[in-house]
Amino acid sequence: MILVTGGAGFIGSNFVLDWFAQSDETVINLDKLTYAGNLENLATLKNDPRHIFVRGDIGDAQLVGKLLAEHRPRAAVNFAAESHVDRSIHGPGDFIQTNIVGTFHLLEAVRAYWYGLADAEKSGFRFLHVSTDEVYGSLAKDEPAFSETRRYEPNSPYSASKAASDHLVRAYHHTYGLPVLTTNCSNNYGPYHFPEKLIPLMIVNALAGKSLPVYGDGQQIRDWLYVKDHCAAIRCVLTKGKPGEVYNIGGWNEKANLDIVHTVCALLDELCSRADGKSYREQIVFVTDRPGHDRRYAIDARKIERELGWKPLETFETGIRKTVKWYLENQDWVSSVQSGNYRQWVEKNYAGRA
Ligand code: NAD
Ligand code: TYD
Repeated sequence: MILVTGGAGFIGSNFVLDWFAQSDETVINLDKLTYAGNLENLATLKNDPRHIFVRGDIGDAQLVGKLLAEHRPRAAVNFAAESHVDRSIHGPGDFIQTNIVGTFHLLEAVRAYWYGLADAEKSGFRFLHVSTDEVYGSLAKDEPAFSETRRYEPNSPYSASKAASDHLVRAYHHTYGLPVLTTNCSNNYGPYHFPEKLIPLMIVNALAGKSLPVYGDGQQIRDWLYVKDHCAAIRCVLTKGKPGEVYNIGGWNEKANLDIVHTVCALLDELCSRADGKSYREQIVFVTDRPGHDRRYAIDARKIERELGWKPLETFETGIRKTVKWYLENQDWVSSVQSGNYRQWVEKNYAGRA
């Protein structure tokens, strides 16, 4: 069996669902269920004996140690994190606690467990740490995409905390020999994406008749990766990745934010047109930019393609169509995640923007 942390969040829950579509191997899913964790994402696994859900913190080394001793997983995949840049600007404390201190305690518990394994299990064990392209900082327009050897230059409290966790993971390999794998991926999108992030926020706001807030000039570039392609990449790294190595994962889809919003509007115009016959584009408003906003991210995914044989299956056009359709068909999920906390966040993040 494997231990997954943060498996009730956006990428983690997609990973767990995809895992069981390919395998019957049990997953112990450790998640704190912060605002971003949602057991409804895993509703189809209710009463499924392959899925053991435990509510808890990766920073609780005693709990993690107990779970490891009891279930004896052959691998751990760490998705658990505070993940939203805007929230890290309003309050970095939780990012330091979970992404840095939490990862440290998780690593300590895993190291103690791993030391106690018999030789064969020890060499087969893997700790896979899921990280982000944001640790590399911001690219100029004509610079080459981020490769695995790019210097770390994180610019937000979020990316700085992820960078710190990557360094800890690296050090546990170098110093203790823990068989770690690190993946740095670009912006994911797809089902179960919490509607505080660009793509789901735009879909949800558009349908609710609300404004579509584009930060600054909307010309910031992100490299978009369909979440199920990311899940396949993680499975591939877990199986074939070389301990100690880093793999960058991207979708080869560099797009400016404004183009993303236009694409979402065009799809909604086609699939669920406005009652007044106008385009959802009418709802776009340009608002005050994010402080320290990174201008461009782009991933050079040639290493994982060349060495491990992974490639994304979706183009942005196919992936975004599936995503918009999913949100149209799952409006109950959207309503359920828009709790009181969600509304308070929207008020806090957008009220101060001109
Ligand atoms: P998310 O915010 O949707 O989910 C995070 C999950 O972790 C939630 O279920 C939450 O409850 C859980 N969690 C938070 N703190 C925890 C703690 N202390 N202990 C246990 N569980 C805790 O995030 P996501 O978008 O699914 O991202 C998953 C991972 O991928 C993160 O490490 C993130 O940095 C990384 N990543 C995400 C993206 C993206 O586009 N979403 C891109 C690159 C990298
Ligand atoms: P986001 O989804 O928060 O991901 P990240 O900051 O990790 O890349 O934002 C994606 C891009 O969209 C980023 O450049 C900020 C921008 N953005 C907006 O323009 N408006 C919004 O309301 C949000 C949430 C993001």
